Amino acid sequence: MTDDMAEHVMANREYWDDYAPNWVETGERAWAKTVPNWGVWGAANSDCPMLPDDMTGLDAIELGCGTGYVSAWMNRLGAKVVGIDNSEEQLKTARRLAAEHDGSDIEWIHGDAEAVPKPDKSFDFAISEYGAAIWCEPRAWITEAKRLLRPGGRLVFLGSSPLSLVCSPLNGAPADKHLHRSYFGIHKVDWRTVEIDPGGIEFNLTMTGWFELFRDLGFSVDDYREPRPASPKDEMLFSIPQQWAYNYPSEQVFWLTLR
Ligand SMILES: C[S@@+](CC[C@H](N)C(=O)[O-])C[C@H]1O[C@@H](n2cnc3c(N)ncnc32)[C@H](O)[C@@H]1O
Repeated sequence: MTDDMAEHVMANREYWDDYAPNWVETGERAWAKTVPNWGVWGAANSDCPMLPDDMTGLDAIELGCGTGYVSAWMNRLGAKVVGIDNSEEQLKTARRLAAEHDGSDIEWIHGDAEAVPKPDKSFDFAISEYGAAIWCEPRAWITEAKRLLRPGGRLVFLGSSPLSLVCSPLNGAPADKHLHRSYFGIHKVDWRTVEIDPGGIEFNLTMTGWFELFRDLGFSVDDYREPRPASPKDEMLFSIPQQWAYNYPSEQVFWLTLR
């Protein structure tokens, strides 16, 4: 199976298997929350309602579920949930926390969100918070989400804004106020060999690119938001200074419906 995997899927598997121990604590804290919050800056669910209030009877999938807390929240709202992740090490944490938090009916799949081993039209709702949303090739994973969704199904995802990539220096240093790469050239960013804080392979699109993709695949856009931190503190999270994210969009969320 590994032989057929795209380069970015293999590279990101290796990266996330190594990085998984650093996510255990975040996962534990998030599983313990009774009200979701979202993204790097912890956007309140009231400002950024990524989940419906009631998911009773819905078939839902989290694409790139990591430690699985979003899957847990959907499960508690009444959905029948599948979480898929490319890293077995991340899923170990998800499985342990599911056992500790009464999430034993969530199905965990070790696999690639660009090729999910589930039949067409299996789900009513698909979500990704920094999972497939940034680590998968956009056309590949959103085409797969379309295949998995029933007509009228919803796809909600949160990832980095294209502006934060443009303002991120090529050597991996934190985002700043300079334009370091072409906006119109945005697609694949390989952080594996950068000088500062090497990472995996990420993807993003221009705004036109995202809208073109949704239109091509038959999704309508219900909402779009750019969550920001509550204050311009002198702190840094994931190479984005909070000051920067207070003034410029570091994250974006799309709410889509399959027509
Ligand atoms: C930051 S976590 C996102 C999950 C969760 N919201 C969180 O913040 O912990 C990113 C996850 O995406 C997963 N991922 C990366 N590429 C993937 C792919 N092709 N298919 C499924 N999951 C993938 C990684 O293994 C990792 O667990």
